[in-house]
Amino acid sequence: MNTIIKTFQKKNVGTIPIWLMRQAGRYLPEYMSIRKNFTSFLDLCYNIDKATEITLQPIERFNFDAAIVFSDILVLPDSLGWEVSFQEGTGPSLRQFKTKEDLKLLQKSTDPRKIGQVYEIISKVRAALLPKTCLIGFVGGAWTVVSYMLEGKGKHDFLISKKFIYENERLANELIDFIADKTAIHLFNQARAGSNMLQIFESHAGSLSAAEYNKYVIAPTKKIVSYVKKQFPNVPIIGFPRGSGLLYEKYIEETGIDGIGVDQFVPVSAMKKWQEKILVQGNLDPVTLLTEEKVIATKVDEIILNLGSENFIFNLGHGVLPNTPVKNIEFLVEYVRQAKR
Ligand code: CP3
Repeated sequence: MNTIIKTFQKKNVGTIPIWLMRQAGRYLPEYMSIRKNFTSFLDLCYNIDKATEITLQPIERFNFDAAIVFSDILVLPDSLGWEVSFQEGTGPSLRQFKTKEDLKLLQKSTDPRKIGQVYEIISKVRAALLPKTCLIGFVGGAWTVVSYMLEGKGKHDFLISKKFIYENERLANELIDFIADKTAIHLFNQARAGSNMLQIFESHAGSLSAAEYNKYVIAPTKKIVSYVKKQFPNVPIIGFPRGSGLLYEKYIEETGIDGIGVDQFVPVSAMKKWQEKILVQGNLDPVTLLTEEKVIATKVDEIILNLGSENFIFNLGHGVLPNTPVKNIEFLVEYVRQAKR
């Protein structure tokens, strides 16, 4: 059994388990050397051999406790025939969802890309990993995916998506329900293909006001979690509702998740309190990894001296930044591993 699952089962594994969000990506020269041969990022996500190889790259280099399948949260709308592309420097670009007709289009859609390739990648990676390494499957939270569809682009201030849900409540509810159902199936399929743990990236959770948070974050997450749990009760699910602030507690209490991913805006004292009832994961500021070893050590100490006994997985508060020096990640992993539990 792997160290991450043991940690969920409250078994001492001797070290603090560690993996990093976006651990496979542009800061790794071996990723860039594959990436340069693909003009389309999504083509790379669906390429079984290359995506498998990229998933394993950070494990080979740093021996993390978990691998996370190389894919993207926007593979889901893409697989529904919804136009998604990635432009260098500006992030994702999508067809903009505007009307009831768009929902009808989605409901009739067939998969032009074959999302099943993601499940093949998961099976291949699981077969290649040592038993001690956990394999993580993931989805975007329904609100995060829906807000991308409403905005149509990656860099935004949520004005379009929030105006839309205020003015078109009924259609917005239908859309979020539809995406939540598809997301639940995608997550379930990743568990069936061999993922040992699952994570829901609700990167845009912090954009909503409190009442909308209930409708567009809590309710769909609850639905996704209960769907997967019915068939895979023993596969832990971590929810990462980035930017939730005071609403983190409601998310922990109401969604049914097994672990909580925590951003760098939450004080470690709050994580320590939540840790009494749920596994916590996070929350080193990714910018720390652009500094020198002394600074990294001090910031890591603050976290592990407070949390490092049990019910804790070390991670960042958000993804690894593209310009992070590889040697700083080597230092981080070494430093966290040598810390006594
Ligand atoms: O964590 C991992 O190593 C696994 C792979 C992974 C990617 N994206 C690969 C990727 C995961 C888990 C994601 C999740 C994801 N994707 C999120 C949630 C986490 C977060 O960052 O908040 C979101 C919001 C997305 C959407 C997305 N994908 C954006 C906004 C971008 C462009 C911004 C950027 O960083 O370039 C992507 C592209 C993307 N996804 C890249 C990678 C490695 C870079 C693409 C490239 O190589 O050109």
